[in-house]
Amino acid sequence: MTASASPPAETIAVIGLGYVGLPLAVALARHFDVLGFDIDQVRVDELRQGEDRTREIEPDALRVSSLRLSADPADLPGKTVYIVTVPTPVDDKNAPDLGPVRAASRTVGHALRQAPMPQAVVVYESTVYPGVTEDICGPILEQESGLACGRDFFLGYSPERINPGDKVHTVDKITKVVAGQTPDIAARLERIYGKITSGGIHLAPTIKTAEAAKVIENAQRDINIAFVNEIAMIFGKLGISTYDVLEAAGTKWNFLKFQPGLVGGHCIGVDPYYLAHRAEELGHHARIILSGRAINDGMSAYIGEAISARIRPSSNILVLGLTFKEDVPDLRNSKVADLIGSLRRLGHKVSVHDPLADPHEAQHEYGVMLSPRLDQLADFDAVIAAVPHQQYRAINRAELARLVRDGGMVADLKGIWRGQKIPAGRQYWTL
Ligand SMILES: NC(=O)c1ccc[n+]([C@@H]2O[C@H](COP(=O)([O-])OP(=O)(O)OC[C@H]3O[C@@H](n4cnc5c(N)ncnc54)[C@H](O)[C@@H]3O)[C@@H](O)[C@H]2O)c1
Repeated sequence: MTASASPPAETIAVIGLGYVGLPLAVALARHFDVLGFDIDQVRVDELRQGEDRTREIEPDALRVSSLRLSADPADLPGKTVYIVTVPTPVDDKNAPDLGPVRAASRTVGHALRQAPMPQAVVVYESTVYPGVTEDICGPILEQESGLACGRDFFLGYSPERINPGDKVHTVDKITKVVAGQTPDIAARLERIYGKITSGGIHLAPTIKTAEAAKVIENAQRDINIAFVNEIAMIFGKLGISTYDVLEAAGTKWNFLKFQPGLVGGHCIGVDPYYLAHRAEELGHHARIILSGRAINDGMSAYIGEAISARIRPSSNILVLGLTFKEDVPDLRNSKVADLIGSLRRLGHKVSVHDPLADPHEAQHEYGVMLSPRLDQLADFDAVIAAVPHQQYRAINRAELARLVRDGGMVADLKGIWRGQKIPAGRQYWTL
């Protein structure tokens, strides 16, 4: 009697349980034996209590998940697949900081040494520039494990596309780009990732291709926003509303729809620097990419000066929103913090409200004390809607009249109150 051999069951460890790693680990745990590992014991303890401070996974979903959690590297050996989802920030000179990726690679290499599994695969999901997985992480894994890459263990890369706060394009619905060191490994990863997404798998021919695809997705977005920010500066001088212009131009079938504003966070404002860095190493100065970055990084100062020029000196200003984008609690690389700094340097007194940001983190990261209750705030010289959280979109004219004194200014960076609810006697300004 012959039995068709079924592939061995995969046992998976996800390394780094943040915005990317946790939803991925929960999705994989519906189909596989999954261990979620993070060096942050506090994060692991919170998750064990069912609390995800990133708000990506509901407490109930976490409680019913078979995902096991650990902050102890001793739990890592013996897995068939390791998926690395640790941060890839830039340093204070905007150069890639590969420290977390290197550290995670050492941890996985050590686990491979302890209990080498045949054909073990190490997949990177962290956003990197082309070459990091094979030229930097592979050698670290070899060194720590004493094993040969491409013989004893294999590499893979699968960029992450999740968009925090977006409940439509979730990890189980988006097309997943996947690449493996060999066709067999690619096919195996296709099977694994194919289980968790209904959006299909796109097999990229090489790991470098998959790395490059991710980094240009974000660089493209950054450049397009930079273009709109640049025209906002031009139209500001012309005295016309950029949003009105975009609305008109957007009626053309092939006009690309982007909005002006602050570009912060962990991805769009960071990843282009990764590509530009690699280009520089190769002797190419990435002019468009870096021009886009320069414009977007300069928007906080531009907006601060534009508002300051329209209000009286030493104004009392209320800034609504501190997180890097709407409806998420993520404060990393918030450009609103730069705007607040710019307004304070220009001599204004700035109060800040954000319903989602963690007050301790706001204080610790930016020295910003959050005002707790919006309904107790009133009579500012200017209110700046900096982040279009749902709560701010829902503000009505009476509330706005309470927040801004007669003769004061409403600065609406994302155009959320455009043409609607500006109380009489208040100056309205938008990009
Ligand atoms: N957040 C996003 O929207 C998003 C989207 C697509 C891609 N990415 C990319 O995914 C990667 C992860 O981003 P994120 O937003 O999830 O980061 P995050 O900061 O939310 O989470 C990273 C987690 O990794 C942990 N960690 C750090 N070093 C570690 C190590 N050596 N071993 C184990 N755990 C470690 C941290 O404690 C943290 O919990 C980055 O490369 C990012 O660019 C992020």
